[in-house]
Amino acid sequence: MPLDLAPSLADLASDAAAGLKEHFGADATVTAAAPGRVNLIGEHIDYCDGFVLPFAIDRYIVMAAALNGTNEARVATALGGEPAILPLNVQQQVSSPKWANYLRGVIEGFQQRGHHLPGFDAYILSSVPGGAGLSSSAALECCVATVLEGLVDTVLDTKEKALLCQKAEHDFAGVPCGIMDQFASTFGKPNRLILIDCKTCEPELVPFENPDLTVLIANTTVHHELSDGGYAARRKNTEDGLALIGKPSWRDVTLADVEANWDALGDPVNRRARHVVGEIARTIAAAEALARNDFEALGPLMAASHDSLRDDFDVSCLELDLMVEIARAIGRSGGVIGARMTGGGFGGSTVTLCESRKAREIAATLATKYHEATGITPQIFASRPSQGAHLV
Ligand code: GLA
Repeated sequence: MPLDLAPSLADLASDAAAGLKEHFGADATVTAAAPGRVNLIGEHIDYCDGFVLPFAIDRYIVMAAALNGTNEARVATALGGEPAILPLNVQQQVSSPKWANYLRGVIEGFQQRGHHLPGFDAYILSSVPGGAGLSSSAALECCVATVLEGLVDTVLDTKEKALLCQKAEHDFAGVPCGIMDQFASTFGKPNRLILIDCKTCEPELVPFENPDLTVLIANTTVHHELSDGGYAARRKNTEDGLALIGKPSWRDVTLADVEANWDALGDPVNRRARHVVGEIARTIAAAEALARNDFEALGPLMAASHDSLRDDFDVSCLELDLMVEIARAIGRSGGVIGARMTGGGFGGSTVTLCESRKAREIAATLATKYHEATGITPQIFASRPSQGAHLV
């Protein structure tokens, strides 16, 4: 089975311009792209003052826009939703179509900063698989923010832009997410991972340019639970756990603290706490291992991360476990360095770090064995770190 290939950014941009012309008869004056992300390690700890290690993938949401001389944003999309008409001279409210809430949230963020937004028409395309744990929603928010920057001729500070988009997700999509996805989609750079200290909100760009390494993303194409309910519940568990342990930040909590409070924390909060403390330590260790090209140390850290997400954080599922098991069975001798689920979980994708020379073979084995066991054809592709949100 061939690796799934994405259209180039140039092709996406010209298709978006063609969509704008077709739907609104307008020529694009501003076109923006924002990438999805994959996370190598550091899962469900961005809202716990932890460290995370994602990169911006070379798959994008692209939006072409032009002023329309009205007080409305009229936006059509190839993402599968009906077109949206958003009045810009009123306060934004959660409404239908649902997909446009991401736009409303970002528009609101600009208006709160005192920007007067002119009416515009826009057309949106995507090469980021949706519902696959690869942050298509953050990519959409960051893309809209970049288009608005272009339309009002301003450039927000990158961190401010990411936080504006995160707030849009909280207030308009109802998901109390951490900062990882929007930081990855805005701060991404070619050949760089982004080590984010989620306590200080500081991203550090870490070189990742070894051509012998390939990152394979395997989209199981299943999605079991509406992410909002399960996600918010996990976040609440960690807040309850920290309050009971009585420390100001998860960064101050040790495994001994968790063990000493095990019964008082109770199940599942004690297991959630064990995940958070372990995953923070694993992510720091993984960043150090990568810096010294120590892949023998990295693989077990990725494995332990997956097991902890499966057993303690309860965000994996049979399909993710299966995909990871197939990668583990291929093993180091077959070129696999490490594999784990990536993103929020409850379905979605796994990330497999492997030797480039074996990547095609590994992708074929993942696809064949996953299909044999489930009857589902997964979507498997390689991705390299790419440029964060930008005007095209
Ligand atoms: C989702 C959220 C992120 C992060 C991950 C889990 O992608 O948007 O903030 O919490 O889940 O690591």
